[in-house]
Amino acid sequence: MEEKKDLIAVLQQIQQKAQDALHSVNSADDLERWKFTYLGRSSEVMQVFKEIPSMETALRPVLGQKANQVKTELEKRLELTHERIQQAALANNIKQQKLDVTLPGRQPERGRLHIATQTLQEIYRILAEMGFQVYRSREVESDEYNFELLNIPAYHPARDLWDTFYTKKEGVILRTHTSPGQIHAMHEYAPDPVRIVLPGMVYRYEQMDASHEIQFNQIELLAVGRNITFGDLRGTLEEFIRRMFGSGVETRLRPSYFPFTEPSAEMDMKCISCNGKGCGVCSGTGWLEILGCGMVHPTVLKNGGYDPEKFSGFAAGLGTERISMLRHGVDDIRNFWANDIRFLKQF
Ligand code: DAH
Repeated sequence: MEEKKDLIAVLQQIQQKAQDALHSVNSADDLERWKFTYLGRSSEVMQVFKEIPSMETALRPVLGQKANQVKTELEKRLELTHERIQQAALANNIKQQKLDVTLPGRQPERGRLHIATQTLQEIYRILAEMGFQVYRSREVESDEYNFELLNIPAYHPARDLWDTFYTKKEGVILRTHTSPGQIHAMHEYAPDPVRIVLPGMVYRYEQMDASHEIQFNQIELLAVGRNITFGDLRGTLEEFIRRMFGSGVETRLRPSYFPFTEPSAEMDMKCISCNGKGCGVCSGTGWLEILGCGMVHPTVLKNGGYDPEKFSGFAAGLGTERISMLRHGVDDIRNFWANDIRFLKQF
């Protein structure tokens, strides 16, 4: 009987001691240690459990029950303390983070069209008013269309004008200019008249610098019909430049050479940066070269399916990033495809 009373008293003490110790538990680590000491394998309650089987049979149930009560109570308090510690950690976190709900939210960035696309769209708009339709042609071309049908046979020295990207497949190249689209369009429309603009990316195997890129956009103009003259070419181009850059611009035509036109010319525009006085933009000449043009060569007309005796036409080609650069004061063409959002965002 004594033994039983003693052990019950001992269990009560054990419980009291454990509960007291719990007051100074303030972290997850403390709690781990407390659990080890008061509920672990070699803790005092567990020792009592071990002793029970050696007790008198009559005492065992009572002691067992009491020991269980103590263990359950301590486990419950362990759980409560665990929650208390977590709550405190959370509160502390919130206090330290200093969340300011009055701060303005982050503006989502608005998308926009690439500056090169904006320029192209403006060009289409102007040319549409002048009666030109957009005609899209392929970027991967055959040697035949990119050169031969444009009156540039293999080994012709004029091939040096275009440094070409060849592919592993014989005769397949990246177009070096939009001119092959002329042939595709003529094949589609001959013998009807055409008045089209062919836009798109062209590729050149070049050393890149501020004014040379390995890829850039061109537009090609093509008009084929009866009685089309050099005067039509000149008038159309001057009007286009005037609508693009304003009525004050002055232009001039210089004789030049392209295998697919005869005669060929290049058009210069009075430098819009210095108004002809000579500056860095025009390399001191006062003029900016902006396009190549000419009357479609009879061989090219024939290759396109037109009878050069009855039909004539004019063509022109220009790089449109050059136009964007002039209009927006961009001094390095490499900016266009470098994908630097700080550059692209400005337009
Ligand atoms: N295809 C020429 C180039 O990329 C530009 C050009 C010149 C196109 C004269 C034409 C033209 O249609 O008539 O250098």
